[in-house]
Amino acid sequence: MSESIYQPPKEIVSHALIDADKYQEMYARSVNDPEGFWGDAAKRLDWMKEPTKIKNTSFEHSNVSIKWFEDGELNVSVNCIDRHLPDRADQVALIWEGDEPGNDEHITYAQLHRRVSRFGNVLRNMGVKKGDRVTIYLPMIPEAAYAMLACARIGAVHSIVFAGFSPEALAGRITDCKSTVVITADEGRRGGKTVPLKANVDEAAKHALGIEKILVVENTGNEIAMKGGRDIWWHEAATGVDEFCKPERMNAEDPLFILYTSGSTGTPKGVLHTTGGYLVYAAMTHEYTFDYHDGDIYWCTADVGWVTGHSYIIYGPLANGATSLMFEGVPNYPDASRFWQVCEKHKVNQFYTAPTAIRALMGAGNEYVEKCDLSSLRILGTVGEPINPEAWNWYNDVVGKGKCPIVDTWWQTETGGHLLTPLPGATATKPGSATKPFFGVQPVVLDPQSGEEIHETAAEGVLCIKDSWPGQMRSVYGDHERFVKTYFSDYKGYYFSGDGCRRDEDGYYWITGRVDDVLNVSGHRMGTAEIESALVAHNKVSEAAVVGYPHDVKGQGIYCYVTLMAGEEENQDLKVELRNWVRKEIGPIASPDHIQFAPGLPKTRSGKIMRRILRKVAENDFGALGDTSTLADPGVVDDLIEHRENR
Ligand code: WT7
Repeated sequence: MSESIYQPPKEIVSHALIDADKYQEMYARSVNDPEGFWGDAAKRLDWMKEPTKIKNTSFEHSNVSIKWFEDGELNVSVNCIDRHLPDRADQVALIWEGDEPGNDEHITYAQLHRRVSRFGNVLRNMGVKKGDRVTIYLPMIPEAAYAMLACARIGAVHSIVFAGFSPEALAGRITDCKSTVVITADEGRRGGKTVPLKANVDEAAKHALGIEKILVVENTGNEIAMKGGRDIWWHEAATGVDEFCKPERMNAEDPLFILYTSGSTGTPKGVLHTTGGYLVYAAMTHEYTFDYHDGDIYWCTADVGWVTGHSYIIYGPLANGATSLMFEGVPNYPDASRFWQVCEKHKVNQFYTAPTAIRALMGAGNEYVEKCDLSSLRILGTVGEPINPEAWNWYNDVVGKGKCPIVDTWWQTETGGHLLTPLPGATATKPGSATKPFFGVQPVVLDPQSGEEIHETAAEGVLCIKDSWPGQMRSVYGDHERFVKTYFSDYKGYYFSGDGCRRDEDGYYWITGRVDDVLNVSGHRMGTAEIESALVAHNKVSEAAVVGYPHDVKGQGIYCYVTLMAGEEENQDLKVELRNWVRKEIGPIASPDHIQFAPGLPKTRSGKIMRRILRKVAENDFGALGDTSTLADPGVVDDLIEHRENR
């Protein structure tokens, strides 16, 4: 496949916070003098007590310990709100865009201050103290932001559970972090439908241990059951409550939040992030990755139920005094132009979304984009999975009109913020590459077998990080051993990302997907993402997922699930055509052994394809499909099984 390089546009470079020279200079300092670099970086925050100890970290297997700014004291909500009041009390902090077009709200920093303070007092009145865990199960309404910041204000540790998760999943997370308080709403709204949140919490409460109070925000106003002595209406609890709430003094290493994330084994892990390092890192990455300038309108389409929402809707942007847009809805409601209409309506300058959304909207057709005025857009971002060059190019050409640098940000729940990403004014981009490390990040490519670092620039292997950065997770909540085992045991002395990657001759990083998704076919290593990218580059293919299965001769065979563009006919000829297409795009070694047409792929509600299920179906192992309850549409599994390719 031919490779294009896109230089940062001149108009961007001339106003950029970081240009190519500055990137080099700052990067060198960040790794050669981390104490100096991060000590200075910490000055972007307001500290109640300035840190004097900057970095105290060890990836040593016998003693994994990560501390940043450890003698500093600060409060996150003060940094995200109070300190902006002298200059920006009347500036909009959050633009809330509702599920229904026409329903929106602008919340200034002054309003945010009052609402968060009152929320903090309500929680305190309920007995919530510093260090207590509070589970938040809210839709994308402003109260979700208030609740997060209120927890931060009073020193409580929030654990947000995505409002699309089932009662069982919610119960497990409540129990694991022992939270006695749950904040929810009567119902949520998404894509014109309602989601029975309070009913889900009631169901979860039957299984979860230790719930004492459920604080309920009235959102849709539809009738719900309230249990006396346990359930409290937010508006009743808030009546007459003071709008001054004294912020708690927090040590830099006090926990800020827990966020559950799935691994390849076991129950979801409670990823623990702390206060000072996380906020420094979220704020700095937000500013530089998106080249955020004062007055810009910034929109990240994620949900606060995911780390992207934590770092890049709330904490990073607000720490920077930004205007951050929060969207309740979905990309295709009422139709496939919604994202672009919202960009036009609010004159969005930076737009940050996921490849899965980009591909879906690309499939809908260009007319949905072209009818909107997107002239305000300056930077486009992507996150969550490798973006195939086809989608990248469409994003670049059709959405960005070739004028907006694309920042392909690679990071994880565990990393707190971007680790690999272009900077708009500094980094030439290549479609599909997350390009270069952010400041302070030292990526290494290891040979997966030997665990040795590959020092040649061009390399392929597992992606590890050599030294700590301030946004790194500190532990798995309640299970430090699991933290050490998951991230520091396979490759001693490094943080193991779980991703495979290639580094090209220019030192650019290309994520090939999770290591367990890397195939080895007849001794040839290749990323499932690479084959998927080839498939979706075909004009009849809308989405594809590729998994390996045991093959007697080749070790692993390639099994492809393909969703066609609307109106395309599934037939044998097309399978042959697609097989030849992949051979042509990548080479005969990538020739699919099986192609199965799948009208829908098994996705989590966050849009991640559940490959575990696809692998099992490809392996004819339906007895062990495991938990399918977190799927957006569990029904797709039956179709996959029914139409599997016989091997
Ligand atoms: C995994 C982390 C980080 C917020 C959203 C996901 C994959 C993420 C990219 C990217 C290729 C990516 C990786 C990573 N991933 N961003 N730009 N290019 N892959 O957070 O749920 O913790 O998932 O998502 O495989 O390990 P997460």
